[in-house]
Amino acid sequence: MTSTVGPPPYYENHGFQPENIYSARQPGANPYPQYFSTNAPSVPSYVPRVATYQSSRPVAHSSERTCASSVKKIIVIILSILLVICCAIAAFFIWYFVENRCLGSLIECGSSGVCIPPSQWCDGVSHCPSGEDETRCVRLFGPDFILEVYSPVSKSWYPVCQDDWNDDYGKIACKDMGYSVDTYYYSRGVATEVSFKSYMKLNTSAGNIDLYKKLYSSDSCASGNVVSLRCIECGLSTKSMNIMNRIVGGSGATPGQWPWQVSLHVHGIHVCGGSIITHQWIVTAAHCVEGRFSDPYSWRVYAGILNQNEMLLRNGYRVQQIISHPDYDTDSKDNDVALMKLETPLSFTDTVRPVCLPNPGMMFQPNQQCWISGWGAEYQGGKTSNNLNYVTVPLIERSRCNSVYIYNGMILPTMICAGYLGGGIDSCQGDSGGPLVTNKNSVWWLVGDTSWGTGCASPNRPGVYGNMTVFTDWIYKNMQANR
Ligand code: ARG
Repeated sequence: MTSTVGPPPYYENHGFQPENIYSARQPGANPYPQYFSTNAPSVPSYVPRVATYQSSRPVAHSSERTCASSVKKIIVIILSILLVICCAIAAFFIWYFVENRCLGSLIECGSSGVCIPPSQWCDGVSHCPSGEDETRCVRLFGPDFILEVYSPVSKSWYPVCQDDWNDDYGKIACKDMGYSVDTYYYSRGVATEVSFKSYMKLNTSAGNIDLYKKLYSSDSCASGNVVSLRCIECGLSTKSMNIMNRIVGGSGATPGQWPWQVSLHVHGIHVCGGSIITHQWIVTAAHCVEGRFSDPYSWRVYAGILNQNEMLLRNGYRVQQIISHPDYDTDSKDNDVALMKLETPLSFTDTVRPVCLPNPGMMFQPNQQCWISGWGAEYQGGKTSNNLNYVTVPLIERSRCNSVYIYNGMILPTMICAGYLGGGIDSCQGDSGGPLVTNKNSVWWLVGDTSWGTGCASPNRPGVYGNMTVFTDWIYKNMQANR
């Protein structure tokens, strides 16, 4: 952006302009109200005399007066505009501190004004003055999104009985997880195969009090149904999959097939991949935003576009904030996950949609079929691909991936291996941060984010991905702290 420096001020002589204040008066009439002295000067001596352009006609004195009053009017208008701007700025700051009192990624304890770091929220230890950090802990469990509430008394999670539950309660729970209420999808009662020993039930006679104060643990649930809660419509792909192996060894994606996939650019160059999880949040790898790449303003996010050349013609979304996992380790790639918050929210379409974050309690089987996608190199040492590629890869059991002939103990609990020990098919440079997804219960889940590997597609050197299930909790807490 450039700042415009205007030409030096001048006043243009437009000759006589009828002007409502003075011109309407009778010539010679006293321009001052009666309560002023009648011998007030007809032209105030301090009126600035402004040089005008040469005019062929002699300039009348009334024109000078008109000019002076115009200058006054302009000054009044400018001052009024400045006043309005100042008031707006002041109002913004008042709103900011009232609405959002905790600055710098902290979560407020109720409305007490006390702020705590996200890591202390729902960690089993009370930090807030009234213990709010341990009394409003909710999570979604398993592939059916079963809503569970934590009881600090019995130190365990309970599913919520559907009896008397409604969408208003659902919205409160979603908000407490870090979602915005405007993505709320539904609350539904589901009969679970396993019958629970205890439930959280609503005390309907408790009146209009806080949701969490209305909940009590009970051994029975009349309907036998528990709440399945969806805070965002995620994990839908418009295209059905043609499982074809033609990334290294992949095939070209079609629009809407991987609608959560984004390309992350720095100075017009694709650097990493990422996945959309809400209108404003992108999940990527921490190693993508390390060092000189940690400045949010250098990044642009492209969603819903398959071709890199096409991205260069567009503006991309600006990044407001980057949050790297605090325990990310650059050498071991432990906790290789980061969040990007967009300056303006994405509009969801058939080609721009979020993927579902895996819920705790989701079991991904060894050998489970997953998919990776990205604009990464198509062979070891190659350049970024122009088109989005994808390929299917099975998960590899951690113990197996850690065996001496594969990664020899380098696979930590925050990592998950996927690929083929025979080689030939893998993610590669430029795919980092991008999704490893699977389809379960007709929903696409983000199993991992592309992290590392020795070479690309080499035998016994499969791809290593961030284990998203262990990051879900960290992601929600950070969404909550930076809403
Ligand atoms: N670190 C790479 C990147 O920044 C991703 C490497 C994945 N390697 C692999 N063999 N799967 O893009």
